[in-house]
Amino acid sequence: MKIVTEGEAKVCVPSESLTKRSEAFYNPGMEYQRDVTIAILQLTKPKEALDPLAATGVRGIRILLEVPTIQKVVFNDANPNAVKLIEKNLEVNCIKKSRYEICNKDANLLFLEKRKYDFVDIDPFGSPARYLRNVGFTLHKDSIIGVTATDSGALSGKFAKACFRRYGVFVERTDFAKELGVRVLITSILQNLAIHNMTFKPLYSHANHYFRVVGQIEYGPDKNLSKIQMVSYCSNCHNKKIGIEKTCDNCESRMKILGPLWTGKIQDRAFVQKMLLKFARKKEIEICSQEVDHPFYYDLHHLSKFLKISSPKIENVIETLRKHGFAASRTHLCATGVKTNAEIRDILKIFK
Ligand SMILES: C[S@@+](CC[C@H](N)C(=O)[O-])C[C@H]1O[C@@H](n2cnc3c(N)ncnc32)[C@H](O)[C@@H]1O
Repeated sequence: MKIVTEGEAKVCVPSESLTKRSEAFYNPGMEYQRDVTIAILQLTKPKEALDPLAATGVRGIRILLEVPTIQKVVFNDANPNAVKLIEKNLEVNCIKKSRYEICNKDANLLFLEKRKYDFVDIDPFGSPARYLRNVGFTLHKDSIIGVTATDSGALSGKFAKACFRRYGVFVERTDFAKELGVRVLITSILQNLAIHNMTFKPLYSHANHYFRVVGQIEYGPDKNLSKIQMVSYCSNCHNKKIGIEKTCDNCESRMKILGPLWTGKIQDRAFVQKMLLKFARKKEIEICSQEVDHPFYYDLHHLSKFLKISSPKIENVIETLRKHGFAASRTHLCATGVKTNAEIRDILKIFK
């Protein structure tokens, strides 16, 4: 065992390399997304939180130490060794016993107890799909939910069958893989919450070697379900259209059909601007706070390959699109991605 410091917490973590067989799982590479979670909770002010896949307990302990409104965190892990480590870590951080509970159950059984929380975090090994169906039992109107997925190949279009099996969404390899993954995840969250008569407003989305979405529960699923649509994609020129179109109106190739996919906002710009005031590691959040909401981004590398030209500077492309009257911005999901409401024809003209 060794002790690491993360945020305001000191946490005992296994010293051997990071594997599923470790005594309890700790991934320092996920610190950034835990930082983001803390910033979001400082703004949304939850009182009770559930960490159902808690591992070392690092996230829940940080919530207890860094979110002033929090009164209680319920920790759970199916692995008894993890539970022992959570107990130890709570002691190391001098957390009063009245501020936490620890369970050693399958997370789905815990959800079926139907106790409600202001914040619930789903952070599994691989896909969160098996937890999404029941997590609605733990949520009330206004709860915040965070969902992480590390089955990136399935979500981003590389493993289409796995994506359909887990999330019920048809995907393909595209030039907007990071946004596709985020949108598949949001689609699945929405469809599973709809069963509980709930819907979900994405506050912040993130893509790296994993995908993460945090959002707010609302009642009444119907308005959001109408924004889940099929999408047509041209793998030749990267044209994208909401709805089903057989032929690309730019290059006349056959379009591929993806979906059903969430086509609404993947973040709340006003909320992200508030995060920016709180959050120290600002670059990604800053890009996100100015991002055009239009789905989906175009990857400049893919467009240059299609045109057989070298890639222009992203700033120049954005500026020229704006000069022509289009909305255009970077995307925090991809360093070479441009978000714009321009049609592919206009983008390619500007490119040339
Ligand atoms: C990726 S780790 C969680 C990491 C943790 N949230 C963090 O921020 O460090 C996933 C955890 O889920 C636990 N787990 C796996 N299946 C479970 C289940 N069905 N119910 C409850 N816990 C489970 C594992 O033992 C593991 O500790």
